[in-house]
Amino acid sequence: MSSVRQSLVENKVASSLIELRDVVKTYSTAAGDFTALKGVNMKIGAGEFVGIVGKSGAGKSTLLNMITGVDHLSEGEVIIHTNGSPVSVHKKKEDEIALWRGHTMGVVFQSFQLLPMLTLVENITLPMDLCGNFSPKQSRQRALELLRLVEIEEHAEKLPALISGGQQQRVAIARALANDPPIIIADEPTGSLDSVTADHIFELFARLVADQGKTIVMVTHDESLSTRFTRALQIADGELVTPKLATNSKSDHEADLNPKKSWWRRK
Ligand SMILES: Nc1ncnc2c1ncn2[C@@H]1O[C@H](COP(=O)(O)OP(=O)(O)OP(=O)(O)O)[C@@H](O)[C@H]1O
Ligand SMILES: [Mg+2]
Repeated sequence: MSSVRQSLVENKVASSLIELRDVVKTYSTAAGDFTALKGVNMKIGAGEFVGIVGKSGAGKSTLLNMITGVDHLSEGEVIIHTNGSPVSVHKKKEDEIALWRGHTMGVVFQSFQLLPMLTLVENITLPMDLCGNFSPKQSRQRALELLRLVEIEEHAEKLPALISGGQQQRVAIARALANDPPIIIADEPTGSLDSVTADHIFELFARLVADQGKTIVMVTHDESLSTRFTRALQIADGELVTPKLATNSKSDHEADLNPKKSWWRRK
């Protein structure tokens, strides 16, 4: 390969922040093995706001769990290119991965996963205290600011069980932002919110991408959000579905030129 071509290839690879190579996930259950991801290849660039859509059970949460490394993969590799050095997520040692994840990505789980014995503000200071980016005083101050950002500051000293599901979801979003990570991985982060609050959160995410250069991967069932992502990917039965593009349609061509116009609006 010529050196020019080699450098072009390397640049292309360097520009992807998140890379999945032939990722397979098979769950072993009493009823037998079930393959939830069937060899997913994906590249997400820095500064993208990617929407993941697909039916219930398609493998969306499983895909996010592979990106974050909260669950083991069966085959393949996930590589995160932050700070100029690629990290193979699933090759990291158990005792290193939590700290690495804390610095690298904020995760909003579909089921929130707030710690029930900690107050809301403590749920948010905990990841900051683990990573050590902020002093304890700063981390409390920052936690309160983040709770204000998601409009739930007045409940800061309550336990999660004493607030609603939508409020818990907002705390989970605030926690994901705690360490100011370059990547946010969010599993239906607006799924429990009313439409006005959902829009507020979506705008917040869009601003994090546009103003701060964050990279966000977000699962959603809300098709009305589709045009607002920089790119939307669909997953069906554990596989990424390639958009079927008609070749002669003017609108398809326009959509190709405008990545904000997602493929399911092109028909
Ligand atoms: N821990 C597990 N053990 C066995 N099977 C699992 C496990 N987790 C998920 N699955 C199965 O893998 C498939 C994909 O599940 P996943 O949770 O990724 O779907 P999803 O697209 O996130 O769905 P939803 O929109 O309902 O959240 C489903 O068939 C599910 O039953
Ligand atoms: Mg899910």
